[in-house]
Amino acid sequence: MTLRSVAVGTGHYLPARVVENAEFEAKVDTSDEWIRTRSGIERRHFAAEGETTSSMAIAAARQAIEAAGLTPADIDAVVVATSTPDLTFPSVATMVQAGLRMPGGFAFDVQAVCAGFVYALANADALIRAGQARRVAVIGAETFSRILDWTDRSTCVLFGDGAGALVLEAQEGAGGPEDRGILATDLHSDGRFRDLLYVDGGVSTSGSAGVLRMEGREVFRHAVEKLAETAETCLARAGVTADDIDWIVPHQANLRIITRTAQKMGVDMDRVVVTVQDHGNTSAASIPLALSVAVADGRIRRGDLIVAEAIGGGLAWGSVVLRW
Ligand code: UT7
Repeated sequence: MTLRSVAVGTGHYLPARVVENAEFEAKVDTSDEWIRTRSGIERRHFAAEGETTSSMAIAAARQAIEAAGLTPADIDAVVVATSTPDLTFPSVATMVQAGLRMPGGFAFDVQAVCAGFVYALANADALIRAGQARRVAVIGAETFSRILDWTDRSTCVLFGDGAGALVLEAQEGAGGPEDRGILATDLHSDGRFRDLLYVDGGVSTSGSAGVLRMEGREVFRHAVEKLAETAETCLARAGVTADDIDWIVPHQANLRIITRTAQKMGVDMDRVVVTVQDHGNTSAASIPLALSVAVADGRIRRGDLIVAEAIGGGLAWGSVVLRW
């Protein structure tokens, strides 16, 4: 018998305010046409004043716990992937723990920018398999609208806010690829690429939050090269092939990256969950948002084989293969 981390509930939260591409035409020298054709993005949600990463994370987690038929008291760990925490500390995860009125357990944040949710899943899976936790709420939550330079057309049109959550539960499996749950994980980073995507402020440098800076074309090049590679490594580790996949659930940064990665893997686009048109790039929230949306609309079903892959600042990238 093998201990597996099985997804038993999903949830998500999107702020009420929807911003269409056209709204940017009045602010910077851009067009709906450019944003759509270069990124696939049509609209995104922006948090309202007073709405925070933790408030969105709490809403998503509450929904995921309810969907699992559980209560917060059943959860013994909270892991939040975020690069836009409410405060430098304490962690967003402890704010979620308090917001859910969890009577015990432990909570911490993971910071791997857009790859954050994949890193969080790998960490939560390790906790479960090591016997440290039986049920973990894994959340990706971001308010990237708070770290955008509104005069930089090459970045401000790309990002959005939101949160997604899933509950992982320890269950016994047979040890093979037919098991439900996380079958394999694959993580990488290379800090030599820090200048390709970063925020130009922070606690021990400027003392302020800073704004996002990105060499988009270079990040694009790395993404196309690295995402299919990590996904294929992870599939092999899980003992399956790309033909076995029911769904790729990619990080939602750019439709062209998503399409090229699927092409490289030989997977048709009708087996790829795409939400970038409606959410923009929500960094660590993008994969759990896409998972939750696709579960809610009936695309992802029990038993489906899924590969999730992501890349972002660091550079940090990785993938997870799981059976739903
Ligand atoms: O989530 C973390 C990982 N991040 C990513 O995966 C993002 C990766 N990068 C990308 O998605 C794409 O590189 C972008 C969408 C950011 C940009 O697309 P691109 O096809 O790589 O465009 P580019 O940066 O090569 O820019 C092409 C042109 C430039 O003009 P010139 O130099 O050709 O005259 C830009 O100045 O488009 C211009 N441009 C814009 N034009 C209208 C850049 N931003 C805009 C804009 N509106 N918003």
